[in-house]
Amino acid sequence: MPDAAPRHLAVLTSGGDAPGMNAAIRAITRTALARGWRVSGVRDGYAGLVEGRFDELASRDVGGILQRGGTVLGSARSPEFREEVGQRTALAHLREAGIDGLVVIGGNGSQTGSHALHQHGFPVVGVASTIDNDLVGSDITIGVDSALNTALEAVDRLKTTASSHRRAFLVEVMGRDCGYLALATGIASGAEAVVVPEHPTSPEAVVEQLRAAYARGNSHAVAVVGEGSDPDTEQLLAHAKAHEDDLGFELRATVLGHVQRGAAPGAFDRLLASRLGAGAVDRLAAGEHGVLVGLHGNQVDTTPLAEVIGVTKSVDERLLDLANVLAT
Ligand code: F6P
Repeated sequence: MPDAAPRHLAVLTSGGDAPGMNAAIRAITRTALARGWRVSGVRDGYAGLVEGRFDELASRDVGGILQRGGTVLGSARSPEFREEVGQRTALAHLREAGIDGLVVIGGNGSQTGSHALHQHGFPVVGVASTIDNDLVGSDITIGVDSALNTALEAVDRLKTTASSHRRAFLVEVMGRDCGYLALATGIASGAEAVVVPEHPTSPEAVVEQLRAAYARGNSHAVAVVGEGSDPDTEQLLAHAKAHEDDLGFELRATVLGHVQRGAAPGAFDRLLASRLGAGAVDRLAAGEHGVLVGLHGNQVDTTPLAEVIGVTKSVDERLLDLANVLAT
């Protein structure tokens, strides 16, 4: 027998914000209201859950947010929620407010929190959202495509100025422990080298790729470096600067950082967030919880949270090979 569907649903966003989170909040709110449920937004992620900061949402409250980046609910790190006592306090606040279901929009760390609440017996469903695309349980997560387009636009611009000055650029993109953003940016921008955390390399090998681009007659060269790579951008820069004389190109480095997180969501992320948000409500309505809602071969599907947490999705080796072939 499936559990009863919730009558009062809460929604929160957690971890790094991602373009499309607002579209997911809107989809969850409106599909739940359409079922006759009440909906409350939790302020500032798990921090607001521990402090019982809930605001009831009507349909108009989520109007005009579909096209906005970031999260209107706010997001924050919550050391308190990592502790059992914090989780019990959060559960007490949920029960006090008459909330009997929760949707957590976020990435790896956020879904670890969902899993903890699930283990306490509370009905939770996760929605896959992080620009890193490191979440097992979804082919692609909300925010990746918009962050990628932001990185791509930046690299295209850097290539323009690099060509004018015959320079090589190291461009660092986000992704924590997962090289997906770096790899996808590298392939889509036609970079001469890609460095990802999953594949430690040597500074010599990267500099050699830049040098080879000069020897081929390129007017510029770009190495896209994933945050968390070994060597990191600083080490690469130090090594390349020490060998600038025989590099051919003059060298510069740019760290894109949080610029990648702040974009307005593109069409792909708005659609994905709308589908996954509605999917989360459908699953709760069917009495399913303790799962992550994600995209599997273009279908909305679920993965048990227990299989999602504590693991990081790695880059596709075939894409890495492709990046190297296309760079020559
Ligand atoms: O997880 C998303 C992400 O942007 C990572 O790519 C990055 O390592 C991290 O968040 C940065 O976190 P913060 O916003 O706390 O600096």
